[in-house]
Amino acid sequence: MTRVFSGVKPTGHLTLGNYLGAMRQWAAVDQHQADALFCIVDLHGLTVEHDPARLRRLTRQAATLLLASGLDTELCTVFVQSHVDEHARLSWVMECVATDGEMRRMIQYREKSAREREHGGSVRLSLLTYPALMAADILAYAADEVPVGEDQTQHVELARDLAVRFNHRYGHTFVVPRATRPAVGSRVMNLQDPTAKMGKSDDTGPGIVYLLDEPDVARRKVMRAVTDSGTEVVHDRETRPGVTNLLEILAACTGGDPETLAASYSSYGALKRDTADAVVETLRPLQERHHALCADPGYVDSVLRDGAARARAMARPIVDAAYAAIGLLPAPEAEGAGQAVGTAAPMDLAR
Ligand code: TYM
Repeated sequence: MTRVFSGVKPTGHLTLGNYLGAMRQWAAVDQHQADALFCIVDLHGLTVEHDPARLRRLTRQAATLLLASGLDTELCTVFVQSHVDEHARLSWVMECVATDGEMRRMIQYREKSAREREHGGSVRLSLLTYPALMAADILAYAADEVPVGEDQTQHVELARDLAVRFNHRYGHTFVVPRATRPAVGSRVMNLQDPTAKMGKSDDTGPGIVYLLDEPDVARRKVMRAVTDSGTEVVHDRETRPGVTNLLEILAACTGGDPETLAASYSSYGALKRDTADAVVETLRPLQERHHALCADPGYVDSVLRDGAARARAMARPIVDAAYAAIGLLPAPEAEGAGQAVGTAAPMDLAR
C-alpha cells in the first residue's frame, strides 16, 4: 500500500491556502487510498521568532483543525512531530548528506531570510537547515507520496535528492518520495496581493482567509479582494492574477474547473459573491466540528498520544537502519532486551 506523509507548521492560524492546497486532499483522498500520516511539525515552528505559549496553543489548534477537516484516526495517523524523537535523530544525518549550497538555494529560505534581514532581525540557523528536518520527516516513514501545495515542491525534491544520495553512498535504506498536489488550489494567493502566496505567517490580515474566520469576516475578505483592471473574467495568472485567484478558489471549493467557470461570468461582482458563498460553505462544517472538538480536549490528547506511539513504531526501525548504514555503532542491547533493531539489514527495514 502506498505510504503518504505530510505536515503543517504551527507558526500561525491555518488558512484557506493550507486547506485547499493540502488538508482537503488529505481528508478526502489520501487517508482513504493510502497508509497515511499527518503531522503537526512543531519543531519547524522554532525556525522563526516565536512565543512558546503561542506555539503550544497553535500546535493544539492545528491538531484540532486537522481532525475537524475530516481526518479519521481509524484510517490515518495524526501526531505532533516533537513527540517522536526520530525526526530530530534523522535530521542530523540529513544535514550530513546535504550540502550548504543546496540549502541556500531553497526559495523559501532566500525569501524569508531576506525579509527577516530587511526588518533588522537575525536569521536562525535552523531556517537554513529546515529542509534537512523536512527530509527527515518524510524519509523516516518511507513515504512514497507527499501531498503538498506548490510552495513545498522544492523541499520535497530536495528530500528525493537526499534519499537517492544516501542510498547510493551507504546502501539502499530510504524510499524515494515524490510530491503530489491537487489539480486546483495548489497555490492560493493573498486576496490583497494576488502576486503573493496566502501565507499564515504574513501579517496582512485582510488578504488572508483563516479557517476559523467568522463567516461574515471571511465573506468580507473575499468581497474586498483586489481584482485587476479590465472587466472581463478570464483565467490567466500572468495578466489577471486577482480574478484568476478567485476562480481557482471557487473551483477548488466547488469541485469545478477554473477555465470553465470563467466563461460563465460576465462581471467581477458576481464572481466575488459566488466565491464568498463557496468559501463560507466550505468552512462551515469544519468550524462546526472544530467547535465540538474544543469541548473535548481529552479526546484530542488521546488521538495525539496514540498517533505518536504508532508513528514512533514506524519510524524507529528506519532511522536505526540509517544510523547503522552511515556507520554509527549500534547502541549495545540493554540486558534482557531482544535483538537490537539497529543491527538488522537496512533493506529489511526500509518498509
Ligand atoms: P506549511 O505549514 O507552510 O503549509 C502546510 C501545507 O499547506 C500548503 N500551503 C498552501 N497551499 C496552497 N496555497 C497556499 N497559499 C498555501 N499555503 C500553504 C503547503 O504547501 C503545505 O502543503 N515545510 C512545510 C511543513 C512540513 C512538511 C514536512 C510537509 C514539514 N515537514 C514533511 C510535508 C512533508 C510547511 O511549512 O508547510
